[in-house]
Amino acid sequence: MPDQLPEKPLACIILAAGTGSRMKSALPKPLHELAGRPMIDWLLETVESLSPEKIIIVSGPDKTAWENALKQHEVVVQEKPLGTGDAVKSALPALEDFTGDVLILLGDMPLIKPETLVSLIQGCAKTSMTVLGVHFDEPPAFGRLVLHENGALAKIVEDKDCTAEERCIKLCNTGAFCVSAEKLAGWVKKIGNDNAQGEYYITDLVAIANTDGATVHTEQVTNNDEVRGVNSRKDLAALEQIVQQGLRSKAMENGATLLAPHSVYFSWDTKLGQDVLIEPNVFFGPGVTIADHVHIKAFSHIEGATIKKGATIGPMARLRPGSDIGAGSKIGNFVEIKNAILGQGVKASHLAYIGDAAVGDDVNFSCGAITVNYDGFDKHKTIIGAKAMIGSNVNLVAPVTIGTGAFVAAGSTITKDVPADALAVAREKPMIKEGWATQRRKKRTG
Ligand code: UD1
Ligand code: CA
Repeated sequence: MPDQLPEKPLACIILAAGTGSRMKSALPKPLHELAGRPMIDWLLETVESLSPEKIIIVSGPDKTAWENALKQHEVVVQEKPLGTGDAVKSALPALEDFTGDVLILLGDMPLIKPETLVSLIQGCAKTSMTVLGVHFDEPPAFGRLVLHENGALAKIVEDKDCTAEERCIKLCNTGAFCVSAEKLAGWVKKIGNDNAQGEYYITDLVAIANTDGATVHTEQVTNNDEVRGVNSRKDLAALEQIVQQGLRSKAMENGATLLAPHSVYFSWDTKLGQDVLIEPNVFFGPGVTIADHVHIKAFSHIEGATIKKGATIGPMARLRPGSDIGAGSKIGNFVEIKNAILGQGVKASHLAYIGDAAVGDDVNFSCGAITVNYDGFDKHKTIIGAKAMIGSNVNLVAPVTIGTGAFVAAGSTITKDVPADALAVAREKPMIKEGWATQRRKKRTG
């Protein structure tokens, strides 16, 4: 637990059920991804950094969608999406023996920072409930925070339930609360559903706490981007932009050159060495590690790949999962690599497919060389020794081994192993008929 946190135990409830109807998706909203990682995982990383005793995730009835994603935490089911208040109620049995503070967070607000949560929890040490507020010059459809004259929070009014006057309030509810566990269960049970949406709102907790004689404080977030919610695909795209900007800045701060930062898409876990040069329009999927002095040329698509020192990739190369590119290798335009380990100094400068292969140092793939790895049922492996030369338009029909230093002639389809330093030619001998084309033209044109 960070030093600044009170000694009290902490638990966290993440509300992640609900239909997410505005997303128009079969996938639960918090499992939609930002930079290749589900929103819920962004949030979990932040919450885990606070070392709470428990993290409880409230999911919809389709728990299976969650179980893979959330092996380490307790998932409780909210049977029907009756509102955020009802969702918290579903989590109460999991907190029966817990004393301390309970952090309540929304699964669709993934970018909140640990330090913001720390200030919310610190505020709760002085009282039994704190709410994280946000000031918007032009508020979106967020709940509005109605304050007492002394600045304490009186109630939260949902946008749909606001009077014209309340709607002018610019201080809004982020959806993050910290509540003393001793109070939570009693207050939640008092939440009703007499409102515009006929839902049980967790936001009603504030008025209920006030009636119970408690003082509710507000902490205000300083960076509004942290508390943007995702209700629609447009919101998701807006958050993706925020995340990408963060990843691009981090890449540059760590010593990579991005010629057109706005056009490079990183994955949350992309690892870049120093003096990496990335040209415009490059996409990184999850699981990419790039060593120092690598040059990624324009329009390349890279996922699940390791690229060693000084290699050059692209333009327009595709590295799929399991690609391991040796130091100083050159992978050029329209080359696709999948599940293949390449040694140092391998060259595949244009139009090749290398899949399910182990390739030694300094092997050269000429234009159009491919590994034929799939027979319609199974994948097979191609092994190529160091310094072998694979000619243009060669098919290496796997399983097959090409020995060290062997030479495979252009246009060959290789179905047998080739020994080291041998020449393999597997193509028709050319047939040449002198004057044949002239005769043909004469026949047609007279
Ligand atoms: C909510 C808040 C609003 C706040 C806004 C900030 C309520 C009533 N309103 O509104 O004050 O300004 O967030 O983004 O709390 N969920 C469940 N079960 C349900 C309904 C929702 O688990 O029955 C979960 C959803 O998965 C979502 C979160 O709760 O992650 C928030 O629900 P959503 O419907 O998006 O609330 P908003 O209308 O955005
Ligand atoms: Ca929301």
